[in-house]
Amino acid sequence: MARKYLIETYGCQMNVHDSERMAGLLEQAGFEATDTDDDADLVVINTCSVRERAEEKLYTRLGDIKGLASRTGRAPMVAVTGCVAQQEGGQILAKSKLVDIVLGTQRVKMLPVLVAQATTADEPLVDIATPYDEPTFPLGLTRREDPVKGYVTIIEGCNDYCTYCVVPYTRGHERMRARAEIVREVEELAASGRREIQLLGQIVNHYQAPDDPACDFAGLLAAVHDVPGIERIRFASPHPRHCSDRFIETLQRLPKVCRHLHLPVQSGSSRILKAMRRRHTREDYLALVDKLRAALPGIQLSTDMIVGFPGETVQDFDATLTLTEAVRFHSMFSFKYSPRPNTLAARRLADDVTEEEKTRRIMVLQARQKAIQAELHAAAMGRTVDVLVDTSSRRRPWELAGRTSGNTVVNFPGDAAWLGRFVPVTIERTGAFGVWGQPAGPAQERPC
Ligand code: 5AD
Ligand code: SF4
Repeated sequence: MARKYLIETYGCQMNVHDSERMAGLLEQAGFEATDTDDDADLVVINTCSVRERAEEKLYTRLGDIKGLASRTGRAPMVAVTGCVAQQEGGQILAKSKLVDIVLGTQRVKMLPVLVAQATTADEPLVDIATPYDEPTFPLGLTRREDPVKGYVTIIEGCNDYCTYCVVPYTRGHERMRARAEIVREVEELAASGRREIQLLGQIVNHYQAPDDPACDFAGLLAAVHDVPGIERIRFASPHPRHCSDRFIETLQRLPKVCRHLHLPVQSGSSRILKAMRRRHTREDYLALVDKLRAALPGIQLSTDMIVGFPGETVQDFDATLTLTEAVRFHSMFSFKYSPRPNTLAARRLADDVTEEEKTRRIMVLQARQKAIQAELHAAAMGRTVDVLVDTSSRRRPWELAGRTSGNTVVNFPGDAAWLGRFVPVTIERTGAFGVWGQPAGPAQERPC
């Protein structure tokens, strides 16, 4: 009987995609997927360390698996991968006796080899080497969960060293994937019926093809835009300081590029942005938003925001609120600052905003943002929008959901066979996190 694996993923899309790659590697090695740890022979915990709370989840999960093992007498092999693995290495073994493998972010491809070795090894295995090799991955191996959308890595790592951010330490310095390999992967996704691609990188719009000096991010967008069968292109995340005129003109020119940008700002205060080493000011950001909206009417913006960064005063936080009001983001991921190992902020700046004050600030910000989202959605009432169907409820297959080009979540009744097709939907009810409506026409293969 085939051995079974379970992969649990925390963190960003990059991690979700690494999990898809690890699943493909394990299946090639003869493993079968399972979705419960009751019958898993191997549990892979793919971890995130971007914030303290994300990191704590690893130890909670290890506790659960330990409980299961003592109740049932079954102890699966446990591999810890991802950013916490890279950061902590062998120290994880001191905190939990359950772990058999610790595998760093640059060593994903080694997972099946380590699993084979761990079966007979006397000691747990740790491989967090950082060869910083070319970020290639064999085409066709990735086991993709989503039948409609496919992730494509274009850049790994980051050189920006924002002072709060652990990523340069967990994912290494910036490495670009070859343009030819990216285009081949997009073609493969189109051939497998995927309609949407999401290009991934820490700073996607810093892309420069290693195999084509004339191809920057705008050039890459144009290249993937040419792939027949791909109808929507998204990417995460662009950095405000690399949103050149050429980049904006390219978005204008290419209709498959979705009318949504996730553009992290992190704070509304130029003083805090400087302490974060973001290399953009509040004014730069607001001017960029104006430019984007003038060039691409109706474009929806989302962002990441941190509250309680060291030294953030009530006035700085007010600046975050006024920027939020001024931009009117379509959605926002907001976080309480937590010091991360090795980062400049953790080494040099006192974490001086109290936990209570961080909680107060995030609650004020989230309440304001929720009201803005509800207002933006309410303004779309009665409109008919083009939805790419990406979800059908497992228990009630007639309940569908999908997204507009602007990234609004739209819920509506229909047929599970519409998955991966475009449906015009008239909006009849709205809320802060999505809208509801009725189909206004037949499901189609191409955007309406
Ligand atoms: N504390 C709080 N939030 C953080 N983020 C990154 N590092 C930290 C930190 N130390 C947030 C940023 C980033 C998102 C992925 O996580 O907003 O864009
Ligand atoms: Fe992704 Fe960063 Fe979390 Fe790593 S630390 S999983 S790169 S968000």
